[in-house]
Amino acid sequence: MSLVQNSSYYIQLEKKFGASNYEPLPVVLDRGERIYLFDVEGKRYFDFLSAYSAVNQGHCHPKLIQTLVEQSQKLTLTSRAFYNSKLGEYEEYMTKLLGYQRILPMNTGVEAAETAVKLCRKWGYQVKGIPENQAKIIFASGNFWGRSLGAISASTDPLSRKEFGPYVPGFEIIPFNDTEALENSLQDPNVAGFMVEPIQGEAGVIVPNEGYLASCRKLCKEAGVLLIFDEVQTGLGRTGKLLAGDYESVKPDILVLGKALSGGILPVSAVLSNDEVMLTLKPGEHGSTYGGNPLACAVAKRAVEILVEEKMTENSYNMGEVFRERMNILKSKYDVLLDVRGKGLLNAIEFNEKNGKSIAKEVCKKTMELGLLAKTTHDHTIRYAPPLVIQPQEMEEACEIIEKAVKFCLDSM
Ligand SMILES: Cc1ncc(COP(=O)(O)O)c(C=O)c1O
Repeated sequence: MSLVQNSSYYIQLEKKFGASNYEPLPVVLDRGERIYLFDVEGKRYFDFLSAYSAVNQGHCHPKLIQTLVEQSQKLTLTSRAFYNSKLGEYEEYMTKLLGYQRILPMNTGVEAAETAVKLCRKWGYQVKGIPENQAKIIFASGNFWGRSLGAISASTDPLSRKEFGPYVPGFEIIPFNDTEALENSLQDPNVAGFMVEPIQGEAGVIVPNEGYLASCRKLCKEAGVLLIFDEVQTGLGRTGKLLAGDYESVKPDILVLGKALSGGILPVSAVLSNDEVMLTLKPGEHGSTYGGNPLACAVAKRAVEILVEEKMTENSYNMGEVFRERMNILKSKYDVLLDVRGKGLLNAIEFNEKNGKSIAKEVCKKTMELGLLAKTTHDHTIRYAPPLVIQPQEMEEACEIIEKAVKFCLDSM
């Protein structure tokens, strides 16, 4: 029998029996509802991380839970050895909504991104005519697409790479937000694709110059190279548009989605493209036991329908404006705030050092104490990304907590 224990009990259990690859804030979460999380002692917090942008629809959305329960009582997994009654409808819904001919279902973001890379190489050999094993994929420095060997081979973060080599070959790194560098790299006829996040999330919510995405589109098209957008974090309303590429009306050749695709219920990811690219993959060349399972398809279709029906993208746009306006006022008062940036509800504050120390971690600890959860990304930056259902009054309250925490940390340093 398991008794409800206090936070320190659960923290000790994880510390004793778990791997040490995370450093969580000392809060033990037990329940979630909309934009709120509750710890085992019942204290309520604003969730300003949304599980790294996976819970766009809010925690435990009742309509989504209903779909989860109904489908899980009927059929959950069949494998792709057979057809199932949920996959086709989900595929039709997603491709029509996003304007692609085909979709390939996977589970986690990194699997979908790796699928996009494999698909791009396949297209490079079969359609572009790149000599066998010579295909190159270009990535931008600061990229993050997960933790697989493929992903870390493309990474420029020493912490992600160190002592995990040897790395996957055929990847080239160019600076982010630099069209000249892209133009130069595209001159190599063996380049098959350029994969980029429209806004770099893990790098600290780095927003490129206006026009960058459109230039990437133009340059890749001219060079006969596939443009791949990794919208695992930026997609599905997070940045105030359904896709971040929509800000510049850019449609990539391959689109990668994950995280909020299931509204935070299950790992569900997807790769979308047109026939010319997708149909280069033949039976047996790629797959996943859980990819496209009926439970995931039912939940993902409902999760995206809910996002659209409840106009969460529009709310994300509007609430993001409110957040940045409030934080820019704070920045004008305290020069310890170096930058406030983002789009929609994918935002970050970058802090200057104070007395030779970063205050970002201290601010996170203080907001936690005051009832708001957020996490640093790198030493000086905090990402603020609440579920897209946050209402104006709630945003005001949350901003007040952040303001109080910054003031407190400055006074006490
Ligand atoms: C842009 C981007 N791509 C891919 C991933 C990897 O997703 P997952 O952790 O589900 O494998 C992430 C995760 O943060 C991400 O931000």
